[in-house]
This record gives sequence, C-alpha cells and structure tokens, in this order.
Amino acid sequence: MGADGPLECTLARRPGRAPGAPGRRALAGRGHGLGRDVDADDLRAAARRPEEQAIERARETAADEGVDVRFEVADAAALRFGDGEFDGVVSAFGVMFGPHERIARQLARVCRPGGRLGLTLMPPGSRAAELWSLLGAFGAEVVEHPARFAERVDALLGGAFELEIRRVESALEEQHSPEESWEMLRRSLGPLRRLLERLDEPKTEELRREFVAVGHRFADEPRSYVLVLGRRR
Ligand SMILES: C[S@@+](CC[C@H](N)C(=O)[O-])C[C@H]1O[C@@H](n2cnc3c(N)ncnc32)[C@H](O)[C@@H]1O
Repeated sequence: MGADGPLECTLARRPGRAPGAPGRRALAGRGHGLGRDVDADDLRAAARRPEEQAIERARETAADEGVDVRFEVADAAALRFGDGEFDGVVSAFGVMFGPHERIARQLARVCRPGGRLGLTLMPPGSRAAELWSLLGAFGAEVVEHPARFAERVDALLGGAFELEIRRVESALEEQHSPEESWEMLRRSLGPLRRLLERLDEPKTEELRREFVAVGHRFADEPRSYVLVLGRRR
C-alpha cells in the first residue's frame, strides 16, 4: 500500500473496495454501506438490514470488485483475533459509536507494529454531532457520543499509533431537505427509531421540530468528516 492516498480513498470514496494490496490482511469495519452515495431506497433497505444482511451486501460488493475478502460479524470492543494479526485496521464511521476506550485498545492490539490505521469519524461541532446531542437530550440510548472519539483520538490512539488527523470536506452533495432526512432517519436510524417508540406524540413533535431546525441551521455548511491515518508504533 502506498502512502495515504489509497487508504483515504478506500475510507472516504470507495467504501466497497477492500483496503490494502492483495495478500495483505486488513481488519475493516463494514456496515450497510452508508458511506457511499445512497438514495432513499438504500436507506430504507438499511433500516431492515441487521448485521448478517449487511455482510451479505458487502460480500456481493467484494465479488463485484473481484476482491477476496473474509467477512465476520464481531463486536469491535471484543475482537476474537490474535495480537498483531492484521496489517491494517480500518473503520468508516463505525468505531466512533463506542465504547471508545475498549475499541481503541482492540484496534491497537490486533494491528501489527508498522501496520496502518484508517478511520473516518464524526467531527465535533458538526450537524451530525448536534443531532446526536439532541437524541441524547431526548433520552436515546447512546453508548457514547460519537463525536467524542474524534475529540480525544490522540488520547485514545496516540500512544499506540503515530497519527495524522485532519478534517476533510465531503464530496457528497446534500440530497435531502431536513424534513426529508427526518422522515428517512426516523425509520432507518436505530437509536432514533427506538427512542420514538418510547416518546409520546407531543415529545415526538418537539424532537422533530428541533431536529429539522438543526438541519436548517447547517444547511449552507458543507458536510465534512475527520480523517485519521496512522501507523502502529
Ligand atoms: C454509520 S454505520 C457505518 C457503516 C459503514 N462503515 C459505512 O461507512 O457505510 C455504523 C456501523 O457501525 C456498527 N457498529 C457500531 N458499534 C459497533 C461495535 N461496537 N462493533 C461493531 N460494529 C459496530 C453498526 O452496526 C453500523 O453498521
């Protein structure tokens, strides 16, 4: 694998492509493919997909790309792999959901010395971060605030990896109004869906209004993410 280019490309623009050169072993957190340009149908499909179905989709993508990948469902905080087993560890908007300390220890443990790290994370102060704060304020069950991972990535991973951290503007265009986003996410975003099952009608309406207001407040700001590249010490 070259310098930073291919890894950044894998994380941010080509989430379907396996990281690293052929023959390398890389641990890559996969999900339902929300990192790529998705439409409303994709989001609705994602809502119905538990992990196994997401893996099924990832398998199809790997086959389409002609890449030989082994997929397993695992908790990032309790990986069943050996110490230093991987040449690289990669996660696109996954590890930030926590628990942060335990996941950071696992990433460092399974990555061999000299191995690569690549993460995309939710930026503090972003629209996404505000929306998660809002969900937390209304009582959503959130393990940890996802933007906290980027906020303290140095403390979490700086001991084990040499880190390069930067905020990158997303090439993705905004596709939906805040009102449309609410309608999609209330069905597809697990913590929001579960929260709405517990809220009465007035509280649901209050959350909807605040959610949409955050969307409008950030309407003119380009979307961005935090890119973390590292090398295991
Ligand atoms: C926002 S999605 C990102 C999915 C994918 N990486 C992408 O870019 O499209 C977050 C994913 O992280 C997974 N996830 C959250 N916490 C996890 C944990 N502790 N272990 C493994 N996966 C986790 C969720 O199941 C979900 O699929």
